[in-house]
Amino acid sequence: MERSASKLGLPGHPDFEVHPVVSSLKAVGVESGWVVVAWADGLEARFYGAFLYENRFDPGITSPDTRQREVEPSGVPADLCPVGASVDAAGALEVAWSTGESSRHHPGWLRHYREARHRPGVILPHPLPWTESGLSELPTFDGVAVLAGDDEVLGEWCEAIAEHGLGRLEGLPTDPDTVLAVAERLGVVRATHFGRSFDVVIAPENESNAYTSLPLAPHVDIATRAHLPGVQLLHCLANTCAEGLSVMVDGFAVADEVRRTDPDAFEALTSLRWVHSNRSTSRDLRWSSPVVQLGPDGEPAEIRLATGTRALPDMADDDLPRAYRALRLFTRVVEDQRFRITTAWRPGDLVCFGNGRVLHGREGFDPSQGERHLQGCYVDLDDLWSCLRMVRRRAPCPGDDRA
Ligand SMILES: [Fe+2]
Repeated sequence: MERSASKLGLPGHPDFEVHPVVSSLKAVGVESGWVVVAWADGLEARFYGAFLYENRFDPGITSPDTRQREVEPSGVPADLCPVGASVDAAGALEVAWSTGESSRHHPGWLRHYREARHRPGVILPHPLPWTESGLSELPTFDGVAVLAGDDEVLGEWCEAIAEHGLGRLEGLPTDPDTVLAVAERLGVVRATHFGRSFDVVIAPENESNAYTSLPLAPHVDIATRAHLPGVQLLHCLANTCAEGLSVMVDGFAVADEVRRTDPDAFEALTSLRWVHSNRSTSRDLRWSSPVVQLGPDGEPAEIRLATGTRALPDMADDDLPRAYRALRLFTRVVEDQRFRITTAWRPGDLVCFGNGRVLHGREGFDPSQGERHLQGCYVDLDDLWSCLRMVRRRAPCPGDDRA
């Protein structure tokens, strides 16, 4: 059965990624349960026996159709060890096992593990605060190209959202549900209690200040749920109001500024929790979180600032003075013009932004002066990242052995 899609005759590997063969295997051997490998360009690695065994592209170990693992850890013999290693005619690593079996391994796949390219953050741009990048206007791309499936533009747009926290598409149709069609270019639309999409128009009965003409202080959406919607898309269908400008603030840059200027306030923002609740008559969503969540690297990873839904403190009474002081400082920095981009909505514009990073708001407007209609929806950050990885995967690259 043909299970490999390699034009070089190399074995398949337990994923559908592309693993370029940038250098050939030069020397291989076995040492105390490990297989040692050296590539011609000097890179060396060693692979643990059980690791290689459970990643074989062989029946019963890896499904040839789904490329998912079939063998359970309990199915790998406890006393298993590699007893011999060689490089075959196609350039694959060939391993002889103590069980009497043998297996072949793709050199590009081995190398991607050695270089840790399997980790989630690899190839994703690192978030860059606007104060470092000097970003002063929305990175803007061709919306029609994204809708038409242009990988180059789609990739550039995704990179901007990952790096700067936001990216604008221009020139889109102004038909209702265009925002959903664009979101589906990224991945799966995340429905919430606002529905699959929502219309930002003035509504007489609503549960959010968003559906009024009031100014909206920069905020994140749906801080009331354990898992914040990671990415928000807002599409302008109509706007004849001169007022109601859009305000975008880089929450990561604000957090950095607070950390730099007032470490005590930063500590309070990252450790003291507030309960957010939606205060609705029909549902009771609530979640407790600090204003700034730090990631494993100690950098701001998620901002939960939403004055409209921030309810009551979830902290000791004695912490309230420093909690309120820190919150007041944070929102004063949010109001600083250095951390915000203010733009007018043009019909056909769509702005996509990281909901846990970029705080969005608007200036108030007089609804008697014209029409203002935005339509929005959410996707998760995972979908944005998956989209970017897939754009990269589809692109040809040197050493690509796909048939
Ligand atoms: Fe909002």
